[in-house]
Amino acid sequence: MVALLVLGVLGWLYSQADTSTVGELGFERELKVPPLLEPRTDGDGRKVFDLELQAGTSELLPGKTSETWGANGPYLAPTLRASRGDEVLVHVRNELPETTTTIHWHGMHLPAAADGGPHQMIEPETTWSPTWTIDQPAATLWYHPHLHPETEEHVYRGITGMFLLDEPAADALPIPKQYGVDDIPVIIQDKSFEESGSLDLSQSVISPTGILGSDILINGTYDPHVEVADSLVRFRLLNASNARIYNVGFDDDRAFDLIATEGGLLEAPEHMTRIQLSPGERAEIVAEFEPGEEVVLRSFEPELGTSFWDGRFSGADDSFDLVQVRAGDALDSSPELPDRLADHEPLDTTDVAETRRFELQGNSQINGMTMDLSRIDEVVERDTTEIWEVRNSSGSPHNFHIHGVHFRVLEYAGDAPPPGLMGMKDTVYVPPNETVRVLTEFGTYTDPELPYMFHCHVLQHEDRGMMGQSVVVEPGQQSPPVLPDHDH
Ligand code: C2O
Ligand code: CU
Ligand code: CU
Repeated sequence: MVALLVLGVLGWLYSQADTSTVGELGFERELKVPPLLEPRTDGDGRKVFDLELQAGTSELLPGKTSETWGANGPYLAPTLRASRGDEVLVHVRNELPETTTTIHWHGMHLPAAADGGPHQMIEPETTWSPTWTIDQPAATLWYHPHLHPETEEHVYRGITGMFLLDEPAADALPIPKQYGVDDIPVIIQDKSFEESGSLDLSQSVISPTGILGSDILINGTYDPHVEVADSLVRFRLLNASNARIYNVGFDDDRAFDLIATEGGLLEAPEHMTRIQLSPGERAEIVAEFEPGEEVVLRSFEPELGTSFWDGRFSGADDSFDLVQVRAGDALDSSPELPDRLADHEPLDTTDVAETRRFELQGNSQINGMTMDLSRIDEVVERDTTEIWEVRNSSGSPHNFHIHGVHFRVLEYAGDAPPPGLMGMKDTVYVPPNETVRVLTEFGTYTDPELPYMFHCHVLQHEDRGMMGQSVVVEPGQQSPPVLPDHDH
């Protein structure tokens, strides 16, 4: 009797964990495109951006009102854009109701003091003004709050924006590059709503991953379509969800070209039909369309490498329609994609200064410890090449993100990296009971007292402590074992 009851309950839980919107949407709304924020130029020639974090209301679901957060608007945040060599200054004003927060520039190479991790707190009614020089390849970066341990909530409420980087070599390539026209941001988020339309912040008791929403918003648009007028269209995909993993492709299984991952362009376009993205990962894809056709960008069941049970509890069986692409009756013909996009350094492990091992345990620990803001976990010398070996020893899906650097995947679950993981990365999925080895080089910015973070980008795991801190120092320099309390 008890066994039957347990089975019944489990069956019910199962059905709750199974989510799909495929075939259920009408694609009735026009896809919103986050506005590009025009910078001012100050007396020192810096590009100055003004962001104001605020609370407001949004109509996320048709006819319903949600209380949301955003920057320069009630939901999401404008797209920032700068070029290699630009000096940027961002004023981030916190007008949120009585909440401290931070803004982190995910994927940016910059001094730790400007990184916007949990140490750079922005108190209510104050402004944080980091400045740095863009010195990295063209790429799709993003920004979001990083207050420990409230990142999950702050991101979920809606503060997320893209930060696009350009450089002359990439500008010269014949690839689609007109923002919002043939170069379209696609910020993917899953949300749960209450009857009233409010965002549901409660968590499923059975999910080991935190919030998994049953509705998808693209750039904050529910049920979207986008009209295109060019034969080749570039989509900048960003998984800005708290926990869900997407396996993106087209409903007719047409191939597309992957041209970039988190850190920038691949060496050459990679023809494929699916690209999987865990939270924080980005991919730029270019797809070809015929006049008049309608094609749906969809997320298919992800390959998480979880067991049947864990998979059922973590959204492995889900599939979602993301956005319908409507091609115009007459399309401008785009130039063919170039064979070569960028030059990467060959993967060279002969000069590896250090190999570090990180074990992701349970849903809150790395190497047996939870996050401690006053503890330095790793001391890295600047400009040295290291191998970071990340093992997921739990049954849950995790990924691994490192601040301030990009890395290349050397080995993925015992094999050479698959094509989608060959480029410059800053976040990588680590399947349960597998190891991912990456080659990384921390840059030139040193600060023995202000750390960069590394963590699982499943935001609940990060908040629960699956995060550590590394400082980058001059050769031979020491760092204090315990940090003074930083709040700048
Ligand atoms: Cu996108 Cu430490 O985060
Ligand atoms: Cu980051
Ligand atoms: Cu995790």
